[in-house]
Amino acid sequence: MAKPIIALGIESSCDDTSASIVTSDKKILSNIVLSQVAEHAPYKGVVPEIAARAHMNYMEHAIQSALHEAGLTLNDIDIIGATGGPGLIGGVIVGTMFGKSLSYALNKPYIAVNHLEGHLLAARMFNDIQYPFLTLLVSGGHAQFIAAFEHGKYQILGQTLDDAPGEAFDKLAKMLDIGFPGGPLVEKHALKGDATKYELPITLRARKDCDLSFSGLKTAARLVIEKNDKHNPQFIADICASFQHTATEILQSKSKNAMSAFADIIGKQEYSFVLSGGVAANKILRAKMEDVCTANQCQLFVPPIQYCTDNAAMIAWAAIENYQLEFTSNLNFCPRPNWPLSEPQ
Ligand code: KG4
Ligand code: ZN
Repeated sequence: MAKPIIALGIESSCDDTSASIVTSDKKILSNIVLSQVAEHAPYKGVVPEIAARAHMNYMEHAIQSALHEAGLTLNDIDIIGATGGPGLIGGVIVGTMFGKSLSYALNKPYIAVNHLEGHLLAARMFNDIQYPFLTLLVSGGHAQFIAAFEHGKYQILGQTLDDAPGEAFDKLAKMLDIGFPGGPLVEKHALKGDATKYELPITLRARKDCDLSFSGLKTAARLVIEKNDKHNPQFIADICASFQHTATEILQSKSKNAMSAFADIIGKQEYSFVLSGGVAANKILRAKMEDVCTANQCQLFVPPIQYCTDNAAMIAWAAIENYQLEFTSNLNFCPRPNWPLSEPQ
């Protein structure tokens, strides 16, 4: 049997400095994620300049730690994958430069990985998911229904017309002053809240397409907050629960549309549905999507929580999938802060 390929993955598109070693036989030998939450918390959001400097300061340590935890040295690495976009340009430049420099010094292939493809393929590290499959990618910057017909052949069936859901969770947390990043904190407060207490809009519900919108939900939540005492813990719990419930309803209702559109395109009802991206870490959303998938005869796959939010393991894995199909990058690859998934390098 051929020796498995060993990939070093590098991720630096937002506020996590991450390095990971993954093998082509799906072993995650290490996945170091150095969060920058402490740096950004005073500003209640990610500050691009601070993120770029932090990636510069932490990346070498992240890579050394990933190698150490895997019990390997740089000489054992077969390929290097680094996020080449989309993301905050400063961070993407840092990761790209590390990736290219290591590739040049070690004389090993370099793969510029599209961050969205990293999220899209992450679930395939844990399960044997066959093409074609349908993905709902929900993160701090994106919300897209993606039809994946084969590797690299992706079609966006619908996407957000305004905010991404993670961004909306983060803004709610900011309005309530409960900390950063918002998603996990809103989820925590919602545990003690009444999800039916405040009726918030299920945006674009009447439309039969697959587009999404979260800005109306965010504005409606702001109007409720303005009329209430945002320091009252029960109010915080109730608005968090109502918001999470409504955001989930929006995603459920649009998933039904996307499922029927996808079934029509591929001409069959049974297929895999992948939920991915940082917001897929939300336990209510995971549970509700299970219900939608069961009702629509498709099988739901969601990566383990730590592989939903940004991590370099998914970048290493996407690099492996690309390399196996002979997609590698030149060292003149230019970081792409706006890199649509449907476009090749
Ligand atoms: O995928 P990700 O780590 O970074 C991007 O590519 O954007 O996603 C981060 C987003 C943040 O907006 C964060 O608040 C949200 O995912 N998030 C959550 C949860 N965990 C992270 N949203 C809702 N519930 C969660 N448990
Ligand atoms: Zn991400």
